[in-house]
Amino acid sequence: MAKILKIGIVGCGTIGPILAKAVEKKFSSKAKVVAVCDIEKAKARQLAKKLKSSPSVTPLKKLIGKSDLVIEAASAAISFDVVKKSIQAGKDVMIMSVGGLLGRPALNSMASKKNCRLYIPSGAICGLDGLKGASPAGIKQVTLTTRKPPMALDGAPYILKKRINLKSIKKETVVFSGSAKEATKAFPKNINVAAILSLAGIGAAKTRVRIIADPRMKRNVHQVDVEGGFGRLSTRTENVPSPGNPKTSYLAALSAIATLEGIVGSVKIGT
Ligand SMILES: NC(=O)c1ccc[n+]([C@@H]2O[C@H](COP(=O)([O-])OP(=O)(O)OC[C@H]3O[C@@H](n4cnc5c(N)ncnc54)[C@H](O)[C@@H]3O)[C@@H](O)[C@H]2O)c1
Repeated sequence: MAKILKIGIVGCGTIGPILAKAVEKKFSSKAKVVAVCDIEKAKARQLAKKLKSSPSVTPLKKLIGKSDLVIEAASAAISFDVVKKSIQAGKDVMIMSVGGLLGRPALNSMASKKNCRLYIPSGAICGLDGLKGASPAGIKQVTLTTRKPPMALDGAPYILKKRINLKSIKKETVVFSGSAKEATKAFPKNINVAAILSLAGIGAAKTRVRIIADPRMKRNVHQVDVEGGFGRLSTRTENVPSPGNPKTSYLAALSAIATLEGIVGSVKIGT
């Protein structure tokens, strides 16, 4: 019988529990959640209680020790630390808070030295398959245009610094235009997709990002435009929010489930 993949989940807010439940529902013959942790311990306990696998509620270090695969769904403030500690312990790791990995050199060599894998799901955008496939022929330009209802940007450092009054925005307004590197600092909670796109393509300094506040929007919409030796591609993704967290697109959690399916499954479809 194939070995059961032991999973530890860091962060038991929205994505963590969706993933944990998917493990029980879809992959129970191949994987199980053995440990969970959260800075708010009550959330970890609550999730543990709901799971048939009765995972331990442990601090990060113990969680890593118990797991074959560590899944981070907590915060960009800790995602690099989770990668580093997991890989040092010889464990594979999946990261959702991708913004925290930008500007961190040597992720690839860290993982390959220890023969570990770092998984980064596509999150709330489409088009990474084409971008990755097109890369060998050279990529000239990658642009992410994100449209959100104005209040979805509330509290972002850039909005506060520029004193932008989101409530006064009555029509489509470009509130930010710059590199993905700048965008991840300006909108750290909103812009994991820019980080994912950067890592898959031409890097955070060259990837362009535009953020548009649009009061007509009910959903977060991400448009990806890529140009290079292969030709051009454009994708548009209209996201519905996750049950439980309006700031997290449901597709982000679903894409992590698909990544997990790729890990435990035998057939890999797509780039
Ligand atoms: N890759 C993507 O496309 C994408 C999309 C949406 C969200 N995200 C990111 O994924 C992460 C999880 O998203 P979510 O919607 O589940 O968020 P959430 O706020 O619903 O849950 C996060 C949980 O992590 C916990 N947490 C925070 N800091 C922690 C720490 N230092 N140690 C342990 N636990 C900690 C919180 O208490 C909370 O329970 C966030 O960082 C979010 O920005 C990524």
